[in-house]
Order: sequence, then structure tokens, then C-alpha cells
Amino acid sequence: MPHFTFLSAGESHGPQLTVIVTGMPAGVRLDRGRINRDLARRQHGYGRGGRMKIEHDEVEIAGGVRGSETLGSPIAIVVRNDDFRNWEAAMGVWDVDPAEVAKRRVHAPRPGHVDLIGGMKYDRRDLRDILERASARETASRVAAGAIAKELLRNFGIELRSGVVSVGAAGDSDYAPSWDELLAVDDDSPLRAVNRHAEDAMVAAVDKAREAGETLGGTIVAAAHNVPVGLGSYVQWNEKLDGRIAQAILSIHAVKAVSVGDGVAAARRAGSEVHDPIYFDEERRYHRTSNRAGGLEGGVTNGQDVVVRAYMKPISTLRRGLPSVDIETHEPHRSQWERSDVTAVPACGVVCEAMLAITLADAMREKFGGDSLGEMRANFDGYVARVAKY
Ligand SMILES: Cc1cc2nc3c(=O)[nH]c(=O)nc-3n(C[C@H](O)[C@H](O)[C@H](O)COP(=O)(O)O)c2cc1C
Repeated sequence: MPHFTFLSAGESHGPQLTVIVTGMPAGVRLDRGRINRDLARRQHGYGRGGRMKIEHDEVEIAGGVRGSETLGSPIAIVVRNDDFRNWEAAMGVWDVDPAEVAKRRVHAPRPGHVDLIGGMKYDRRDLRDILERASARETASRVAAGAIAKELLRNFGIELRSGVVSVGAAGDSDYAPSWDELLAVDDDSPLRAVNRHAEDAMVAAVDKAREAGETLGGTIVAAAHNVPVGLGSYVQWNEKLDGRIAQAILSIHAVKAVSVGDGVAAARRAGSEVHDPIYFDEERRYHRTSNRAGGLEGGVTNGQDVVVRAYMKPISTLRRGLPSVDIETHEPHRSQWERSDVTAVPACGVVCEAMLAITLADAMREKFGGDSLGEMRANFDGYVARVAKY
């Protein structure tokens, strides 16, 4: 059974990120502009740190594609770290300058990061060895792989979008935007907010946090449109697509909770206010007038938009530091600060889209198989025609 998935390697200030995407059928045309546009969307957002001014993320494809078309072989992607030129003496692969290494050394772990635990687990005394890989720079790899997944999905009419519904206490984390509202989210607006009226308050909250040396989290809604009925399955725990999507989203840095459809808000309501009634007429066949389930019932897509909500905690690197301990002296030491975001909720939304796209591409490959896009499409068309008559 073909699986759409990816592996990545690369440190935040190392030479590059390397991504291998597997499970792509042959014959899918890739659009470099669209892929790079997603990488640029991830870099954008009010409240980002200085790093994003240094990086100009673009993909270089080093395998699996010929003349813009996939070959069915693994796709190798490189995203260079422009900042490496400033870090080479400390982060070089073969030779490093001990003075530079000492200057960049991290010895006061940041609460909320894996610095301390990673040092213990991998037996490293410079916690930079941990944070370099644990850093959310890795999400550029996810967005690159997700952009490839989107290139596959668009052949079946499936599109993905996301928007920010709250930052800190500003906005409404329960707000359930329609697909049209998500389509209207302006990628160039400061926070990619769904509600432009609430965006000023969100921007003000980021400014206030920055002045106080603080950080903020927030809530994102990501959705997929035109998803066919029947992806995933209810027959085994690990085939349930809601669980697989939740794992993909929760694995994103700083995402601490995920819900499907009305999720958390639904837990406070009565059943008749939560479930989506089923109607039938000859023209529309089976249909619903609401989508509170977020397109998933029993872990299987029901043909409505798949809608997930991600809750991101505040960034763990605070300019004012947090109480911590020096791992050499065991004396109290405020956690170390280096260039960091005040908030990254809008960027996280782009990463959520990517992870949703990768999970749906995997579920599509599982259901429709095929070594080429043509074979996969024939299987898809036959299935969709059968379901339409049900
Ligand atoms: C797009 C994005 C950008 C991030 N930028 C930063 C940052 O600049 N500084 C920081 O300390 N954490 C940042 N984070 C969050 C950390 O990477 C994350 O909190 C950390 O790796 C610990 O993982 P956990 O919060 O999932 O447990 C970012 C997360 C995302 C999704």
C-alpha cells in the first residue's frame, strides 16, 4: 500500500534542511511558484523575530522530478539556511572554532523547550546540540512536504486554507469560520486573522507582549475543501482519520491541543445542538446544512470540509528570561535568550495546512493507490461515481 510521508534532517543554523517525500505517484505536475509561495507564507507574520528577515526560503529539488513532473520515485528537497553563513564557525559540519562554540553555548535551559531533557537523554553538555534540531525551523521542511502533498490533492479538487481566530486573549478561540471566510483570509495581513475587525486588537496584544519581554500563543482553524466521502476507517484505532490528523497537528512545535469541528465547544452543548442532521433530495442527494462535526464521523470523512483547530502555547523563549539553572554550576540562572519570535500563530497556521495536507494525501494514496496519477484518478473516479448513486 503506498504511503505518502516524509523524513527530514537539518539543524536550525546548519547548512540546510533536507526533506525526502515518498509515496507520490508519477505524472503529477509541480508548480515551483506555488511551493515557494507556501514557504514564504510560513515566514510571514506580525511578531516574528529577526531570523525571518535573514531567510528567503526556496526549494531546490534534487530528485524524483523531471521537467516539472514527478517520476514516482522519492522526491528530494533542499531548503538552504541563509543564516548558516553567520554560524559556520560554530555550526560547521567538520570544523568548528572553539571560541565561537563557547560564545554560542547554551547552558541555562529554557523552560518550555526540550533543552534540559534533550541534554540528559542524548548526553550533550552544550544544549545548543538539542535546540538546533528541536527548533521550529524544522517546520519549513513540513511546509515543503505539505506543498508537494497539496500539488497531489489539487488534482482531485481538494484545497486547503487556514486562518487565525485568536492571539493571546484577543479574538475568539471558539469561532467557527466558513470555507468562504477562510478563502478571504489575507495572507499579507499582519496576523492572517479570519476576523479583520479583531486583528487590530491582536496586533495590539503582540505589541504589549513585546514591550513586556513576553510571548503569546493563539488559535488557528485549518480546513480542507472538496474532500471525498470515505477517507480513513472506523475499523481499527489507528485507521481513524481524526486520530491521525490530531497526531499530525499536535506534533507541530508549541501546539498543545487540537480539536475537530466544534470540538471543545461541542462538549458544553446538548446533542441536538452538536450533530449535523442528514437530508436527502434528488438534486443534492445526501446533504447537511451544518458542519459541526468538522467533516469526520467515526474517523471517516463524510464529504464535508475537514475542519481542525490548533491551540498554540506562547513561545517558550522570553526576552526577559525565566527561572532556570546553570547545568555546570547548578546555581540559579535565568534562561538564555536569543533572537526569537514574540508570537508565531500565523506561521503555525501554514504549518497546520501542511500537516493536514500530508495526512489527507496519505489517506488518498491508501484509498486510491496507483503508481501513476492516471491510475489513481481512474480508481478515484470509479469510486466517486459509485458513491454518487448510493
Ligand atoms: C512556526 C513556529 C515558530 C516558532 N518560533 C519559535 C521561536 O522563535 N522561539 C521559540 O522559543 N519557540 C518557537 N516556536 C515554538 C517552539 O519550537 C516549541 O515550543 C518548542 O520546540 C518546544 O516544543 P513543544 O512546545 O511542542 O513542547 C515556534 C513554533 C512554530 C510552530
